[in-house]
Amino acid sequence: MSNTRKILITSALPYANGPIHLGHLVEYIQTDIWARFQKMRGHECYYVCADDAHGTPIMLRAQAEGIAPEDLIARISEEHQTDFAGFNINFDFYHSTNSPENKHFASYIYTQLKEQNHISRKTIKQFYDPEKKMFLPDRFIKGTCPKCKTEDQYGDNCEACGATYSPTDLLNPKSAVSGATPIEKETDHLFFELSHFEDMLKGWTHQGHLQTQIANKLDEWFESGLRAWDISRDAPYFGFEIPGETDKFFYVWLDAPVGYMASFKALCDKTGLDFDEFWKADSTTELYHFIGKDIIYFHALFWPAMLSGAGFRTPNAIFSHGFLTVDGQKMSKSRGTFIMAKTYLDHLNPEYLRYYFAAKLNSRIDDIDLSLEDFAQRVNSDLVGKVVNIASRCAGFVVKKFDGKLSQAWSDSASTLYQSFLDKSETIANLYEQREYAQAMREIMALADKANEYIDETAPWVLAKQEGKEAELYESVSLGINLFRVLITYLAPVIPTTAEKAQDFLQIKTLNWTDINTPLKDHEITKFKALMTRVEMDAIEKMTDASKQDMKKMPPMKPEIKDETSNLNPIADEITFDDFAKVDFRIAKIVNAEQVPEADKLIKLTLDIGVGERQVFAGIKSAYKPEDLIGKLTVMVANLKPRKMRFGLSEGMVLAAGPGGEDLFLLNPDEGAQPGMRVK
Ligand code: MSP
Ligand code: ZN
Repeated sequence: MSNTRKILITSALPYANGPIHLGHLVEYIQTDIWARFQKMRGHECYYVCADDAHGTPIMLRAQAEGIAPEDLIARISEEHQTDFAGFNINFDFYHSTNSPENKHFASYIYTQLKEQNHISRKTIKQFYDPEKKMFLPDRFIKGTCPKCKTEDQYGDNCEACGATYSPTDLLNPKSAVSGATPIEKETDHLFFELSHFEDMLKGWTHQGHLQTQIANKLDEWFESGLRAWDISRDAPYFGFEIPGETDKFFYVWLDAPVGYMASFKALCDKTGLDFDEFWKADSTTELYHFIGKDIIYFHALFWPAMLSGAGFRTPNAIFSHGFLTVDGQKMSKSRGTFIMAKTYLDHLNPEYLRYYFAAKLNSRIDDIDLSLEDFAQRVNSDLVGKVVNIASRCAGFVVKKFDGKLSQAWSDSASTLYQSFLDKSETIANLYEQREYAQAMREIMALADKANEYIDETAPWVLAKQEGKEAELYESVSLGINLFRVLITYLAPVIPTTAEKAQDFLQIKTLNWTDINTPLKDHEITKFKALMTRVEMDAIEKMTDASKQDMKKMPPMKPEIKDETSNLNPIADEITFDDFAKVDFRIAKIVNAEQVPEADKLIKLTLDIGVGERQVFAGIKSAYKPEDLIGKLTVMVANLKPRKMRFGLSEGMVLAAGPGGEDLFLLNPDEGAQPGMRVK
């Protein structure tokens, strides 16, 4: 094999104010597969993470529970680590941002930046809660939208009309913490002058460290100018005090990414690894951060700027992924698809989900959908039906007829078939390396099909009943077991526990890419025990039912916030008001609706818009039976450029709001709506 690489890998640090759910797991599973893969390839690789323990939401939640924030984050950290262990996420170290190592590095980086004049001080005006005696982040102010007058909107944007504004524009603003009317108050804040790093960042973002989709998005941000970043918060705040200041704390996002270093430092202190070798400016080791697409700004701009400003190395790459949807929709509390890690584990094997996510993940930032039926079907047909089946079809014969020993001599055709499995080894490794897991899974399953075909053709169960076919039978089942070993090796980063069980069954000490070059000949295996059972739809139903119950027990998450900047959604492109005004919304009567059997999500609609009929393919199959739609009214975009789809021409789009089901947006014809009416 090529040279041993030294690799440090991280996943984003989960907030210590809520449980791990299946959305998070997209990321931790994606990262864990990559880390396990690198280790299996013989590289020196470390995977570290930590809880992100600071910030206003955590402080307030601890207050609400009547406990110290330190106690809250200790409890949540334990819960998180239990959940991660349940999904076989194999961290080399799991730390907390509220740690001495993190305090050290955050202060050090800040001090370096300050000495080089990258920190400035500005007076800003901010809302202040006179009752709670604290400054309020935008997301902690609620009021009436200045545009559409919807009540109870957050201080940064309106969920009803989508307008963005500053909290001071809200009508009748109230503190979401105490309900008091906030007052405007002046305060000094510290800013990191990001624009000082413009040249460095413009170069860095185009040197292959980012996915193209993201590098392009960043160009738009450069065009609109890099603004100074507000990195301080006033007391009371749960975080680190800023050196040289009184009652000022680092904003949670300043010390959060530093947590990557802190966690690695703690690992170094435990094992004697050399921290500087991995973090010094001219390091030759590799550093990768896996993150979700919602936190790109922090990782692709602030973080490299902070690192380079403070004299550290920058990451080799930021790998972003999309968001999880369940059955085509955002995770929903009422439908039971807001599924917590723990609830999943109460009902289903974690390896199912690891495999399913692998079968869906690629190197892009598209959202990924967990369709629960597809999940069951996919796992059953691929893992149980194809892979595990190979071993179970062959093992019995080996044990009963050949004393548990695999054959010594192979025919040429056996060697050729085995070699064809090895020939795929680098292709599959490259796909893992490129994070094209879905493609890797397809390659592996194609091999599994090939192995099953071989067994079908040689039909050991027939040979076993025939006279003088002993040698053929022996080769068939021995080769079958060897092919299974190659497949389970390729799958080991994805289904590590099953791979371990397979190792026991095969009686082999290691499982890696080089071992398979030597097939198991004249080698003893043990009795086969089921490595994995089928997914039962029943268990899935129990899980979604339990998830509905979980949500009832959870305290209403109010204010429902990640942190002050979570609404930064850097991916959706803004449109101007003029763009919006071009859209022609019409009321449309659904005159016909029918299934598109070849499409998972589509219903074919015929719509009457007064001036004629239009055909539209709408992705609403999961929410409706076609027959229930006929005769109903909906709103359509009538001037969307027709699109040729695989099943025909789609001449517009229907608007479906809400989570689906009964909440899909349909109009009642009795209330005066008529096909063709313009909607304003
Ligand atoms: N604390 C910050 C990260 C700081 S990193 C220095 C944070 N925490 S989080 O708990 O909200 O999210 C942790 C990771 O999980 C993020 O990368 C986020 O994108 C990812 N996901 C959270 N919900 C998700 C889905 N529904 N789908 C896919 N990934 C999601 O952000
Ligand atoms: Zn509004």
